[in-house]
Amino acid sequence: MTKVVLVTGGAKRIGKSICKKFHENEFSIVCHYNSSEDEAIKLKESLNSIRKDSVEVVQFDLNDINKYRSFCESVIEKFGRIDVLINNASSFYSTPILESSQDAWDDLINSNVKGPHEIIKNLKKNLKENLGVIINLSDAMIIRGMKDYSIYSIAKGGLETLTKSLAKELAPEIRVNAVAPGAILLPTDGSSNEEKLISTIPLGRIGNEEDISSAVFHLYKNEYITGQILRVDGGRSLN
Ligand SMILES: NC(=O)c1ccc[n+]([C@@H]2O[C@H](COP(=O)([O-])OP(=O)(O)OC[C@H]3O[C@@H](n4cnc5c(N)ncnc54)[C@H](OP(=O)(O)O)[C@@H]3O)[C@@H](O)[C@H]2O)c1
Repeated sequence: MTKVVLVTGGAKRIGKSICKKFHENEFSIVCHYNSSEDEAIKLKESLNSIRKDSVEVVQFDLNDINKYRSFCESVIEKFGRIDVLINNASSFYSTPILESSQDAWDDLINSNVKGPHEIIKNLKKNLKENLGVIINLSDAMIIRGMKDYSIYSIAKGGLETLTKSLAKELAPEIRVNAVAPGAILLPTDGSSNEEKLISTIPLGRIGNEEDISSAVFHLYKNEYITGQILRVDGGRSLN
């Protein structure tokens, strides 16, 4: 039986690399997207040309808090089962204390922690049937404190706590881990100074998508790891 993975925010960047990694390893993919429809369809076509009918896409806004059940039902309908859930989707922007808004709270919390919680709740039965695996994408730098990013950090901190709590609650049938990337793909708004950033990374380079997707796949494969947060950051969070 072909195994099925749901990757949220899977159309681009790290999510796309995770989709490709599981696809190379014979999985069928449900690629979730919100606004990146063109990229999601392109990825679906490209992977389906490698293996026919192996990728489906589902659109959903994680802020649509009353529609999680129907979203998860539509995910299951695609291939009739689910084995692995990768909570990768995330909104990310600064919220300096005097500029933060209720909308930012809702959006950052929904996409980074409440959404993953609701998806797990709705897929738990199906994941349990298949001795499933959940991997959440956190952020290596939250343990150091992130100036101007308090709400995002709180959301990712919540996701790490959720990872550990559910690792206990859902064991032994479902394993729950997290990968916490360091500097991998810099924000597209040019707000990062690359040279300065590299000087803070012991391994001396920015990471790439493959560094993350291979770590995610490793956590999927190793059957004796649960409740762990794997920081894949070239050692940056040690500084
Ligand atoms: N890039 C890095 O260097 C880095 C560093 C630390 C941690 N991380 C973590 O690693 C993961 C992947 O990083 P990334 O940079 O590839 O992510 P990203 O491009 O910032 O976001 C991934 C996807 O999240 C989706 N998303 C955002 N808000 C959503 C919402 N309300 N509803 C549904 N989907 C929503 C978007 O989908 P659409 O495009 O379809 O709208 C987006 O493409 C994230 O969890 C991120 O926090 C990344």
